Amino acid sequence: MANLGIGIIGCGNISTSYLRLAPLFKGLEVRGVADINMEAAKARAAEFNTKALSVDDLLAAKDIDIVINLTIPDAHYPISKRILEAGKHAYSEKPLVLTLEQGITLRDLAKAKGLSVGCAPDTFLGGAHQQARAVLDEGRIGTVVAGAAAVQNHGMEAWHPNPDFFFLPGGGPMLDLGPYYVANLINLLGPVKRVGALANMPSATRTIGSGPRTGETVPVKTPTNIHALLEFVNGATVQLSTSWDVWHHRRSHFELYGTEGTLYVPDPNFFGGTVEVAGKDGKVEALAPWDHPFGKVNQSHNGRDLANYRTAGLADMAVNHMAGREHRCSLERTLHGVEVMTACIKSGETGQFITMTTTCTRPEALGIAEAQALLR
Ligand SMILES: NC(=O)c1ccc[n+]([C@@H]2O[C@H](COP(=O)([O-])OP(=O)(O)OC[C@H]3O[C@@H](n4cnc5c(N)ncnc54)[C@H](O)[C@@H]3O)[C@@H](O)[C@H]2O)c1
Repeated sequence: MANLGIGIIGCGNISTSYLRLAPLFKGLEVRGVADINMEAAKARAAEFNTKALSVDDLLAAKDIDIVINLTIPDAHYPISKRILEAGKHAYSEKPLVLTLEQGITLRDLAKAKGLSVGCAPDTFLGGAHQQARAVLDEGRIGTVVAGAAAVQNHGMEAWHPNPDFFFLPGGGPMLDLGPYYVANLINLLGPVKRVGALANMPSATRTIGSGPRTGETVPVKTPTNIHALLEFVNGATVQLSTSWDVWHHRRSHFELYGTEGTLYVPDPNFFGGTVEVAGKDGKVEALAPWDHPFGKVNQSHNGRDLANYRTAGLADMAVNHMAGREHRCSLERTLHGVEVMTACIKSGETGQFITMTTTCTRPEALGIAEAQALLR
């Protein structure tokens, strides 16, 4: 396969991961970066030995086929729309868009132009999550009847130097961290039928804890504490808690309860981790990790060994687009995820259960050989 030219719009915090990890994958070549702030683009370009372009020039560049949208959530829709209008494939950081309507516009535009749209998270392609998927598909815990997933902490203002967007509509723990959990629930259980939630916003402001703006307060304009119930099309019922108002807790990240046993899935925010299974006797077995390429430790972060293969979803999109197949981090699945998450927030406001209007299929499992083939 000839290399596809990759451009990146948005040269903030997460862009370093993409610029560092994209070269791991076959067929992807970063050919330029852009940002509304030219200085940010120039700094990243110098750091990673690529070109800094204006957003207009990057969108017009003939050698760029796919543009990765790493802007802030509020800019995801307008920038992805411009990417498609420029005739290029779009791959966005999460959340894909902030409303279902925006996602439908992107879907129609992409279809009309024969372009692919993909969206993070791709962590469900990680070795641990694919191992959990295999355990489930082998029937080891029987039919899933229920589950519980929780991502709870005290938010982003302590570490992110510009945390404003986390506390504005489009942010909050449901749209910021929920995507990892919802994408993995779709990977394991398929589409959602309806949701209901309770939500609130205990603090009106948050105080920045790092960087040049330390001590400055930012307004909170979106719920930061959301506890949802998800009913899946397959009948499973899952409790999903997303909160930035919890200092400490002892809930596990992700558990599925089946007719024959329980599956403990590691944090869907990461590619690796230990999968555990308990049978009817209640004995918990920690499974030896698979020899899956996207579960191998390749990074140390704050003293923690991590497997980080961000961009895997993009590599999968590139390969499958060429072959005319649906890729795993597809627009249909992420759009369904957006509907699930925005409906949880809406249900928190109205107190009503909300039935989904979109659906999707479970992505194909990503086995060891297929994952290996994506790497150089
Ligand atoms: N930081 C992380 O660890 C992390 C992890 C996973 C996903 N994400 C997601 O990645 C996205 C970016 O996060 P970040 O932490 O890098 O944010 P950031 O604020 O550090 O960077 C965003 C960049 O986008 C640029 N930008 C904003 N609007 C733009 C526009 N209209 N046109 C061009 N450039 C524009 C900004 O100037 C900034 O340089 C978010 O959607 C976030 O949810 C971040």
